[in-house]
Amino acid sequence: MSVATQAKKYDVKDFKLASEGKRRILWADRDMPVLAKIRERFAREKPLAGVRMSACLHVTAETANLMRTLAAGGADMVLCASNPLSTQDDVAASLAQDFGIAVFAIRGEDNATYYQHIVDALDHRPHVTMDDGADLVSALVFVSLGRLDDVHAKVREWAAKLPAPERLEIVKNIAGSMEETTTGVNRLRAMERDKVLPFPVIAVNDAQTKHLFDNRYGTGQSTIDGIIRATDLLLAGKVVVVAGYGWCGKGVALRARGLGANVVVCEVDPIRALEAAMDGFAVQPMAEAAKRGDLFITVTGNAHILRQEHFSVMKDGAMLCNSGHFDVEIDLPALAKMAKSTTKNVNQHVDEYILADGRRLYVLGEGRLVNLAAAHGHPASVMDMSFATQALATEFCMQNKGQLSSIVHTLPSSIENLVSQLKLEAMGIKIDVLSQEQMKYMSGWEQGT
Ligand SMILES: NC(=O)c1ccc[n+]([C@@H]2O[C@H](COP(=O)([O-])OP(=O)(O)OC[C@H]3O[C@@H](n4cnc5c(N)ncnc54)[C@H](O)[C@@H]3O)[C@@H](O)[C@H]2O)c1
Repeated sequence: MSVATQAKKYDVKDFKLASEGKRRILWADRDMPVLAKIRERFAREKPLAGVRMSACLHVTAETANLMRTLAAGGADMVLCASNPLSTQDDVAASLAQDFGIAVFAIRGEDNATYYQHIVDALDHRPHVTMDDGADLVSALVFVSLGRLDDVHAKVREWAAKLPAPERLEIVKNIAGSMEETTTGVNRLRAMERDKVLPFPVIAVNDAQTKHLFDNRYGTGQSTIDGIIRATDLLLAGKVVVVAGYGWCGKGVALRARGLGANVVVCEVDPIRALEAAMDGFAVQPMAEAAKRGDLFITVTGNAHILRQEHFSVMKDGAMLCNSGHFDVEIDLPALAKMAKSTTKNVNQHVDEYILADGRRLYVLGEGRLVNLAAAHGHPASVMDMSFATQALATEFCMQNKGQLSSIVHTLPSSIENLVSQLKLEAMGIKIDVLSQEQMKYMSGWEQGT
């Protein structure tokens, strides 16, 4: 049941789920000490006072703690989902009911509802936005360019009702935006290249405190978690094909190997392919790996990595899943066309496709990010760093309002160092410091052999 108040302050599945959601939000909070520290400071200093903010993120327990932090800093928050299948309904209900955040997100929402929720976030007339995949910013860019034929009907209907100057005003009032993931940053860089980016964007994904940990260890662990929850598969002895050896792929390959799988990596980048080979993985083109794999995991951020020619040669019983941002990495329409029958949910989160020759292929999580579709997404401890970085990036964005050009920016290293120091402190890890002599040596050129 969808619940929407008269004032349309939220659209969540069911408020009866809120108590479980609150429990999970507070459980995650225990493992997010850096974010908690920032939240305490934000509550005292209110660096976001008077700021209207719209965030389009996976609605998870960890995201809830980020929302609490931004709200503690004074931001008037609206949150919508960044993927139709990643919302945790209990968390959404608790955020709205217990923490007063306007949430628009229902797990399993159709495309029209997904975009209605994007509209709800845009209608907040934000001064700052935060994206995971750039759906909010791209809607705003299309609106600002008057390209209403290129947006979803829900966005078109909303924008068409506004006089053109008001549409531009909405975009003009945005001081900046934060982007959480690789695919979003790729899209934003393409907007910058095409000179259509209307405000500055901070590539939070590109901070080392984000991708080195979240993409690698977070996606690595939670992708395997999602696969196991959906299938109960024993990975030991299986051939696991990982497409993409970027930050996420490295983590997934590492963890699959740790469970005893024989991992094959597919890449298009020669350096990353070499890295995978020297990290001890087999490296093959997908055309060959497709015949061998028991389990396929795509994490490229690219489209149609697994397609008809690969489905044609896969083994009976092969399992296919994706942990890249969008559900385009597995060509599901082509698979559906090839299948003589399809059965949804032969196991929870698993769909069976039976091909004309009788082979059965299994798709997990409808080809959407398997770690969020079939599990709880990244562990809180790693999201602590990503979302501490997000919170400080938001503060940085407001501190520099009007000073940053309309391009994709990286965060100053001082912010990354602060997040790392706080995380080390929270983990009880001490490190060495450079002596005066060492600093002099490292910054000089005179001393040699
Ligand atoms: N599941 C999650 O929770 C989660 C978390 C972080 C990022 N992501 C998403 O995962 C995807 C990958 O992110 P990343 O940070 O690892 O990116 P990345 O750019 O570091 O790595 C992607 C890799 O895929 C390779 N690739 C591209 N096309 C390919 C093809 N046709 N065949 C084989 N390899 C190909 C690239 O060469 C690159 O090495 C993105 O969509 C990102 O947004 C998901």
